[in-house]
Amino acid sequence: MSGAPVVVLVGPMGVGKSTVGRLLADRLGLAYRDTDDDIVAEQGRAISEIFVDEGEDAFRALEKEAVRRAVAEHGGVLALGGGAVLDADTRALLAPLPVVCLSMDVEEAVRRTGLNVARPLLAVNPRKQWRELMEARRHLYEEVATAVVATDGRTPEEVTGAVLDAV
Ligand code: S3P
Repeated sequence: MSGAPVVVLVGPMGVGKSTVGRLLADRLGLAYRDTDDDIVAEQGRAISEIFVDEGEDAFRALEKEAVRRAVAEHGGVLALGGGAVLDADTRALLAPLPVVCLSMDVEEAVRRTGLNVARPLLAVNPRKQWRELMEARRHLYEEVATAVVATDGRTPEEVTGAVLDAV
C-alpha cells in the first residue's frame, strides 16, 4: 500500500501501539505496519538479539532506516518502536503526518510490562528505569504528536475510538 501513513502511532513500549494499531487498521479498512516487525523480518532475529549482538546504536540505525522506508511506502496505519522519536531526522520526517501519541503513567507502565526481558531497555528495569525513560522522552513524543491519547484504565477498543476521534 503506497502513499504516506494515514495515522502514525508513537509512545512508550507496552502502551499498546500494536494492539490499537491493528484495531485501528481494521476500523479504517487499511493495512497495519510496525517498524519493529520490519526490522525483525529483515534481520531474521529478535530485537533483543540485535541489542545484545550489536548494541543500541546499531539498532537505532536500523530503526531509522526502517521508519524512513515505512513512511515512504505505507499508506495505512503505522506503529513505531518506542525509541524511534530519539532521532532528530525521524522527528522531522514525521512533522507533516498525523501522529498520535499513546500515553500511560509510570505505574501503569510497570504494571503492564513488569520484568519483561524481551524488551532490552527494561532488562534491569522496573520503576526507576521507567521513570527515567518517560522523563527523557516525554518532550520528544509531544514534539511529534498532533494528538495525545491517554490509555490508563481504558480498553484497547476505547483507546481506538479515542484515536479515531483525534485524527
Ligand atoms: C524500544 C521499544 C521497542 C523496541 C526496542 C526499543 C524503546 O518497541 O523498538 O526494544 O527504545 O523504547 P515497542 O515500543 O514496540 O515495544
